[in-house]
This record gives sequence, C-alpha cells and structure tokens, in this order.
Amino acid sequence: MSHPRPGQAARPSYGYIVSFHDLHPTPADFREEVLAGLLRVPKALPPKFFYDRRGSELFDEICQLEEYYLTRVETGLLERHAAEMARFIGEEALLIEYGSGSGRKTRILLEHLPGLAAYVPVDISKEHLLAAATELAQAYPCLRVTPVCADYTREMEFPDFEEFFYRRRVVFFPGSTIGNFTPPEAETFLRHAAEVARPGGLLLIGVDLKKDPTVIDAAYNDGQGVTAAFNLNLLQRINTELGADFDLRLFEHRAFYDPAHGRVEMHLVSRQAQTVHIGETTIPFAAGETIHTEDSYKYDLADFEQMAARTGWTRQMVWQDEQGYFAVGLFAVGQTFS
Ligand code: AVI
Repeated sequence: MSHPRPGQAARPSYGYIVSFHDLHPTPADFREEVLAGLLRVPKALPPKFFYDRRGSELFDEICQLEEYYLTRVETGLLERHAAEMARFIGEEALLIEYGSGSGRKTRILLEHLPGLAAYVPVDISKEHLLAAATELAQAYPCLRVTPVCADYTREMEFPDFEEFFYRRRVVFFPGSTIGNFTPPEAETFLRHAAEVARPGGLLLIGVDLKKDPTVIDAAYNDGQGVTAAFNLNLLQRINTELGADFDLRLFEHRAFYDPAHGRVEMHLVSRQAQTVHIGETTIPFAAGETIHTEDSYKYDLADFEQMAARTGWTRQMVWQDEQGYFAVGLFAVGQTFS
C-alpha cells in the first residue's frame, strides 16, 4: 500500500487515523440483558457478550485451530483470489469493514488495493476500533483510515465522506459473522448493508456452508478445549463484572450441529441442580439445564444467494474452496455491476 504503482501519482502519507466518526451507539446494558436472559425459559445469553478482552483472545486462538476450518479456508480464498476481487472493486473505492479488522484478512485485501480512497472500519467498541485502526494506519501509511464507531446491526446514518473523492462503496464482512444472526436478522442486516453501500456499491462477504455435520461439530468441539474455554468465559465475565458466583466447574460446554435448523447451537450445561447469585437475584438451575449462548448458521449457497437477492443484492462472483466448505461472495446493489 505504501508503494504506488509505476506511473501512479505518489499518494500522501498518513500513518495515523485521518478522521474519526463517532455515531455514539447505545452500549448494551450488560446487567439488564444478562438478568433477562437468565430469568427467561429457556435460558439464553446473547453471543455479543463473549468478546471481553479474554473472550477476544480466546476467539483469536479458535481461529488458529486445525478443527476451526472457517478461518483457514476463508483466508486461503482471499489469498488465492484477492487480485480478482480487487479488479471487481476497482480504483478509489471506499472499503467499509464491519467489525474492526486489523488482522490477516483485511491486510490480504489491502495489499491488492493500493488505489483505495479510504479504509473505513466500523465497530461498536470505540476502544477496540481505535486500537485496530491505529495499528492498520501505521502499517499502511499511504492509506486514509477513517473509522466509524457505530452498531452495524442497527440502522444508522452512515457518514457521507464528502471530504474526499471516491467512486464506489464496498462493504467487507468476513468470517461468516453473518451466521451469528438469525435468518430474519441476517436479512435485516443485508438490507442495511445495501443502503450503506448505495447503488453501484458492493458487498464482499464470507459465508460458512452446510457440510458433513462431523466436520462442523469438530470445529465447535476442538480437542484442546479452546471453544469450551471461550464459552465458559462468559460466566467468568458475569462473575467479574456483575459480582456473580458461578462455579465454572459446575458447567460444561456443549455444541452440536442441528441439521433441521442448519445451525450450530452452543450451550452451557449445568452439571447439577444449583443456584447462582447475581447481586440480589437468585437464579435456579436444574441438573442438565442449559444456557443457550450462540447459534452459528450454515448456509446452502443457493439459499444465501436468494436471501441476498431478496435484500437488494445481485450476485457478481462466488469463490469457493475445492471441498465446498466456505464461500466468499461478491454482490452488487441493484443490477449487475460491470
Ligand atoms: C464469530 N463467529 C463467526 C464464530 C462462529 O463460528 O460462529 C464464533 C465462534 N463460536 C464458537 N467458535 C467460534
């Protein structure tokens, strides 16, 4: 990125965040949502709460596991096809990444997009966003980095970025994070993304596909117990932040693929009848009762493409690995992009 191509005008050097847009997303009320989730039947907690500092570290470890094919396969697809993806994206695009990426996937794309108008990471956590954006700005000094602090799962007034010229908006949503939405939420998300991308804009999205359930089960039940630790860390977070008294030894990780719903369900199972306290509130657990902590939907490619079409997107290109485990799809808002 820092080396302009021959014949190209030298680009200004930044090396820092050029502008920061804070849309002041409403932070989740951790206590309120945890209590509501544990007092309902069946018990459930939203997966967004996994990602405290320790949870984010554990998720990074998950991404390096042999069994967790998602990261490996998607990264391979980006490495193999980034040059072609970059040709679709073209010069002077605004690359909008949902979730603040400072990692390998973002960098693979950036390496192939030296003519980008700007890189716009979007994240609800200001701290996380600014740290990731700063890291990236330093690694790519000729890249204009303009983070947006916002909740991309809700409708938002996305900044116009009129202060500089760009040709097209491109929303990048890797990691099959779309799989953590329910299908109706995924549709809502895709509709919002089409509004943000505007006519002529693109969506580059990673989608985990339906496959042999034993492969999926292994990805969420790794041999080293990292996914179990990631799941159980949610109880540790509740203990630390809300003064609860969960005994982590009395809960176990359970994850399984449910082909009827096309999703992995993740739960924390109470090993015995017990009561847990969160401040003044007592939460009873029966032996074997579970807290449902995450769903991770797997898609049939044709179904995903239909959902994209219903929400305003036209398929341009789909890259898949030989085993058909994972797809990276490129969609355009409205009619076929040329
Ligand atoms: C972030 N998300 C796409 C991961 C997934 O596969 O659903 C989260 C995860 N949960 C357990 N392992 C990884």
